[in-house]
Amino acid sequence: MRTQVVIVGGGPSGLLLGQLLHRKGIETVVLERQTRDYVLRRIRAGILETGLVNMMREAGVADRMEKECFVHHGTCISYENELFDINFKKLIGQNVIVYGQTEVTHDLYDAREATDGKTIFEVEGVQIRDVDSDAPYVTFTADGKDQRIDCDFVAGCDGFHGVSRQTIPETVRKEYEKVFPFGWLGILSETPPVHDELIYANSSRGFALCSMRNDNLSRYYVQCALTDTVEEWSDEAFWDELKRRIPESIADELVTGPSIEKSIAPLRSFVSEPMRWGRLFLCGDAAHIVPPTGAKGLNTAASDVHYLNEALAQYYLDKDSDGIDQYSEKALTRVWKAERFSWATTNLLHRFPDQSEFDLKMQRAEIQSLHYHETAQKWFAQNYVGLPY
Ligand code: FAD
Ligand code: DHB
Repeated sequence: MRTQVVIVGGGPSGLLLGQLLHRKGIETVVLERQTRDYVLRRIRAGILETGLVNMMREAGVADRMEKECFVHHGTCISYENELFDINFKKLIGQNVIVYGQTEVTHDLYDAREATDGKTIFEVEGVQIRDVDSDAPYVTFTADGKDQRIDCDFVAGCDGFHGVSRQTIPETVRKEYEKVFPFGWLGILSETPPVHDELIYANSSRGFALCSMRNDNLSRYYVQCALTDTVEEWSDEAFWDELKRRIPESIADELVTGPSIEKSIAPLRSFVSEPMRWGRLFLCGDAAHIVPPTGAKGLNTAASDVHYLNEALAQYYLDKDSDGIDQYSEKALTRVWKAERFSWATTNLLHRFPDQSEFDLKMQRAEIQSLHYHETAQKWFAQNYVGLPY
């Protein structure tokens, strides 16, 4: 088999790239290790920046999103019992939308099927070969048969645990990592959201986040120990803990119910450089991870897709390889800004095991600055809605 671009990974990065390239007449094959249902069962991000929203439009997959999303003009931050709003619209005239990663992925799979894009599910043993030559190819097993696809380029969109990053020799690759000493326990419940905006809460018992998916679907998180397990957290214990971490007036309004999903995610910052090796490009979680506090994971994956889509279009349509040569540098410049924001918001809002009284005073002073100073609010707003590409 031969195609122009093999996309390893059928998560949001791979599917969005595939759809954007398809609109430009560039042929792709997506290789996904799991089934479609499995990919769609993963509950992950919920907040989309305008850049990603615009790409969904460009990919022709925005209809359901435009109908069902919530537009959020701001977000709330609480410190113990005190709650304040950062109004993006007033500060910088922009917004974000609430539309789950599951829905984004769903819409992209539907579009790929409707346009006869080739996706091979349940592939095993993917190996990316000869990307440092002009004739790369990818081998794998599917349906019990060994298969090979020859191509011009490989897009490594296979997430943090994928094979693409590992294909880049260790002598070329440099990895930067910070592991945070806590995780997030998240639940999804068929209950109305407690507030019309998200609430990011810093409390003496640790961080909490009140988010949502729609009028009757809420997503809540509490900071937990890395050693905690989902089995140790009953729904009742979760709701009790959440209520103790958010302002009383909000806790009084909280509608609780059985969880329909419960999971724990560790928090880490990670970047692998460079994001290109020969004819292999890394995209999204394959190259970088952010702690989820600033809602930047999916959105940063989308900005990589933007640069790679532009670079490949320039190569195929204008016969110009400048975009390809600049991909890694352009993507990484924005990645490090998202890393900085995610790291800063994580430090601002969580309780750390070794925090001194001085550290706590500094954290409080920073939150006060965000509460009362427009310059600090503007910086937060610009980063939260997403820096320009
Ligand atoms: P992924 O979504 O990881 O997709 C990669 C795909 O590649 C997967 O479908 C995988 O099955 C496939 N794959 C892997 N290896 C192979 C292989 N060898 N061969 C073929 N296919 C392969 N971000 C936020 O902004 N907010 C959140 O609340 C949030 N929560 C998260 C919770 C968890 C548990 C995780 C892991 C991430 C979370 N993120 C969150 C981050 C966000 O979901 C990711 O940034 C986003 O999914 C990145 O998309 P991606 O397509 O690059 O990678
Ligand atoms: C959600 C997750 C986040 O990490 C975040 O910052 C905001 C919202 C969510 O799952 O809804």
